[in-house]
Amino acid sequence: MLNLISNALAVDVAIDLGTANILVYLAGKGIVFCEPSVVAVQDDFRGNLKVLAVGEEAKSMIGRTPDTIHAIRPMRDGVIANFDVNTEMIRYFIRKVQSIHSLVKFRPNVVVGVPSGITQVEKRAVKDSTMAAGARLVHLVEEPVAAAIGAGLPISEASGNMIVDIGGGTTEVAVLSLAGVVYSDSARLGGDIMDETLIQYIKKRYNLLIGERTAEYVKTTIGTAYPGEEQSTLEIKGRDLLTGIPKTLCLGGEEVREALADVCDQIVQVVKNTLEATPPELAADIVDKGIVLAGGGSLLKGMDTLLRERTGLPIFYAEDPRTCVVLGVGALLENRQLLNRLSLSSLNSSGR
Ligand SMILES: Nc1ncnc2c1ncn2[C@@H]1O[C@H](COP(=O)(O)OP(=O)(O)OP(=O)(O)O)[C@@H](O)[C@H]1O
Ligand SMILES: [Mg+2]
Repeated sequence: MLNLISNALAVDVAIDLGTANILVYLAGKGIVFCEPSVVAVQDDFRGNLKVLAVGEEAKSMIGRTPDTIHAIRPMRDGVIANFDVNTEMIRYFIRKVQSIHSLVKFRPNVVVGVPSGITQVEKRAVKDSTMAAGARLVHLVEEPVAAAIGAGLPISEASGNMIVDIGGGTTEVAVLSLAGVVYSDSARLGGDIMDETLIQYIKKRYNLLIGERTAEYVKTTIGTAYPGEEQSTLEIKGRDLLTGIPKTLCLGGEEVREALADVCDQIVQVVKNTLEATPPELAADIVDKGIVLAGGGSLLKGMDTLLRERTGLPIFYAEDPRTCVVLGVGALLENRQLLNRLSLSSLNSSGR
């Protein structure tokens, strides 16, 4: 009886647990948090983790912490890389959600988006981490499905819809029809690899060591995927590897595009592979309707032009590419029937 009451009164929360960003959606309210997936922790004298900061504040600490403090990104390549820190991150947001909701005492039911290509073990880790963070029931939904719902695609119709979600850690490509994934592919390619590629390029070409945040800044400021769309130049600072002294360097848009070209080509290849594996009737629908782009990585300037040129298909951006997944899992909170159909499986706090 108590269980029934608490179930009826529990708040419903949807989470896009991304490699780069965590977005939280509260039923009846919409998106309530959007923060980088970063946690700053300190080991206390008993070896326990003490969370110092989560989100934006923790991200600003990356590369700037003393030995005793670590700014950790608990998600890598779309999956949990650090279980305990991930649990603390989700716990932090669940508590924040509970503090803005009047029914503070009840554990929330949580829907989480997960990459379509993850293993059973990786799925289990997401569930266990979310349960340990204070959820009473966890549903997992494939991210491309959530992204398609969030982008407003008519996924329940008997017609092919294709979504490409380029995130921080993964690129997910899926063809959906009749509320199901007909074919999907997921590659560990995204914004993080672009940043890492820029770090390596600048190191090799200029003997200059730059941090993750600077690399991301270069990418989002002058990075492009398509020739002719390059912006001017950008001044960056790093450490000269020969002298060990901080140095300023002027980077050109064209060299940044050339450095990123290989990663962009690999992303195009994942899209082409999916198109080749799509059944002909659905492929015909995609020729008419085109491909919808989602995820922060798709915002690399010229990514749409590159895909349009290489596939010959119409390419559109979702209204807000960065929020599609969370809007999709959020929409499922209001549509139980569809949630039950799309949920990979669910688990409650008693482990059943
Ligand atoms: N304007 C931009 N140009 C290029 N890249 C961008 C831009 N804006 C954001 N990004 C990149 O998008 C990535 C984050 O996208 P997103 O929030 O969709 O990822 P995520 O959902 O956390 O990751 P994943 O889905 O892979 O787990 C970061 O690598 C970020 O640098
Ligand atoms: Mg994502």
